[in-house]
Amino acid sequence: MAIIGFVNQKGGVGKSTSCYHLAYWLHQQGKKVLLVDADAQTTCNTWVQQSDTGIASKVIQVGDELMEQLGGLAKEYEYVLVDGPGGLSEATKAILLCADLAVVPCTTGLADIVSAAQTVRVIKMAQKYREGAPQAVMFLSRGFKGTRITREARRLLEDYEEVTVLRNMIFNRQLILDTWGQGATVWNLEGSGQSDAIKEYENLFKEIMEKLGHDQQTKKVVSRPAHSKHIAEAVRR
Ligand SMILES: Nc1ncnc2c1ncn2[C@@H]1O[C@H](COP(=O)(O)OP(=O)(O)O)[C@@H](O)[C@H]1O
Ligand SMILES: [Mg+2]
Repeated sequence: MAIIGFVNQKGGVGKSTSCYHLAYWLHQQGKKVLLVDADAQTTCNTWVQQSDTGIASKVIQVGDELMEQLGGLAKEYEYVLVDGPGGLSEATKAILLCADLAVVPCTTGLADIVSAAQTVRVIKMAQKYREGAPQAVMFLSRGFKGTRITREARRLLEDYEEVTVLRNMIFNRQLILDTWGQGATVWNLEGSGQSDAIKEYENLFKEIMEKLGHDQQTKKVVSRPAHSKHIAEAVRR
C-alpha cells in the first residue's frame, strides 16, 4: 500500500518512462500494481494498452478526482503509481497531497535543474502541511556517461534540501527512447546496451524501494521479447 507519484513540472524529463518501467518491474515481482495516468497525453495508459503485460491502469486527470480516489485505490493495490502531467496544475498538487513518495526525474541541462526548483517548491509546501510527507527523491533520468555536465548536474540537485538525490541514475539510451513505440520495456526490447539499461533500472528501483522501507528480496526479471501491438503501426493506420 504505497502511492508513488512521478512529478516534474517540465515535460520530457522521463516521468512516464520511469513510471511505466517501475510498474512493469513491480508487476514482474508479483506485486499488485495500478498505474494511474494523470497526464492528458496518456503516455502510460497507451503503453499499457499496447503491451500484453496485464498491468492494471486507469486515467484520472482531474485534481479533485485524484484526491477522492487515490486513497481508496491504495487499499486495493500494493502499489499505486501515478504518472503526473507537465506543469504544476491541480493534478500535480493533488498527487503531492496523496503520495507517500514523490519521484522527480530530472534531465542534466542546467535549465532543467533550475526549473526543477518550482517542483521542489510545491513538494516543500505539501511537506509543510503533511508533516514531512511525501518523502521525495530525485534522479537523473538521461545522464551521459563520464561527462562533467552529468556530475555537475548531480551536485547541483543535491542543493535541494527537501529532496534526496538517488545514487543511481539512468543514462540516455536509444534503447530506452524506443521502448514506448514498441509497447515494451528495456527487459523485452533487444538492442545495444540492453543489459546495462536493465541493471540501471533495477538498481534505481531497488533504491526507491529502500526509501519506502520496502527493501524486500527482489526477483530478477526474465528478459523476453515483447508481444506488443506495435504503436508505430497503430499510428500509421
Ligand atoms: N534514459 C532515456 N534515454 C533516452 N530517451 C529517453 C530516456 N528517458 C526518456 N526518454 C525519452 O524522452 C522522451 C520524454 O520521456 P517521457 O517519459 O515521456 O517524459 P515526461 O513523461 O516527463 O514528459 C520520450 O521520447 C522518451 O522515450
Ligand atoms: Mg509523461
